[in-house]
Amino acid sequence: MKRNKSIGVFDSGFGGLSILKGIVKTLPEYDYIYLGDTARAPYGARTKETILEFTKQAVDFLFQKNCGLIIIACNSASSDALRKIQREYITKKYPGLKVLGVLIPGAEESALVTKNKKIGVIATEATVFSKSFEREFYKIDPKIKIYQRACPLLAPIVEEGQEDKDSTEIIIKDYLEFFRNKDIDTLILGCTHYGILKEKIIKNMPYKVQVVCESDVIGKKLEGYLARHLEIEKNISKNGKRVFFTTDTTTRFEKLGSKFFGKKIEVKKANLLGGVASK
Ligand code: DGL
Repeated sequence: MKRNKSIGVFDSGFGGLSILKGIVKTLPEYDYIYLGDTARAPYGARTKETILEFTKQAVDFLFQKNCGLIIIACNSASSDALRKIQREYITKKYPGLKVLGVLIPGAEESALVTKNKKIGVIATEATVFSKSFEREFYKIDPKIKIYQRACPLLAPIVEEGQEDKDSTEIIIKDYLEFFRNKDIDTLILGCTHYGILKEKIIKNMPYKVQVVCESDVIGKKLEGYLARHLEIEKNISKNGKRVFFTTDTTTRFEKLGSKFFGKKIEVKKANLLGGVASK
């Protein structure tokens, strides 16, 4: 069969572009379609039901655009929607197609690097309250103890381009104070946006830890997955093509998105409910 499918990458907004950047660094040859649901972002404070509904619409859109595999780059959606989508939605609607998330790669990497088996997670409220990291770590190694801190202000700060303000460091320091007496040796940046704040997070942790950033590990994990699933890999085209869609204004997405992706991008408008793109 001819290779004619793309790898879809979905996020609530811009942040997933840092995940795509990490993937493209390891696997530049494949074609990718990115969708950011910027019109309805942030997802992090939304209910489980809403996140599931929005994620289903995104999955429909990307499969209609002929994706052969979708990565849900958003931690909030990976936490609240992924399992239901994998077990119920796509098995009925898109048998044979696959949707993957970002939690497991980050959790597996952290389990490898921790020595004292005490791991911290910072993420949105949706991710922390879903207990999805707890579930994944329990499967990997039940001896691992995890400590989670929701940081609801951080993603909006990055979206507003306020990461270099002095007030941002004060907010980060305040969130990280939670870990002072927890003795963790590894910290997962469990939100697409936190990679941009990595240096500030390291600087403001009360003590030294190893920081695991999903965008640094996801490419290798996907490479391994594709090598194990040649029935999917053989359909993905290799023209190095990237197509970007947003549900909101394309100009703002192009400006902020370029920061997350690390290079200039051109963006098209997507209509999720109709599943059809305009422009
Ligand atoms: N993409 C989201 C995540 O990784 C952060 C932004 C949001 O709350 O939508 O959880």
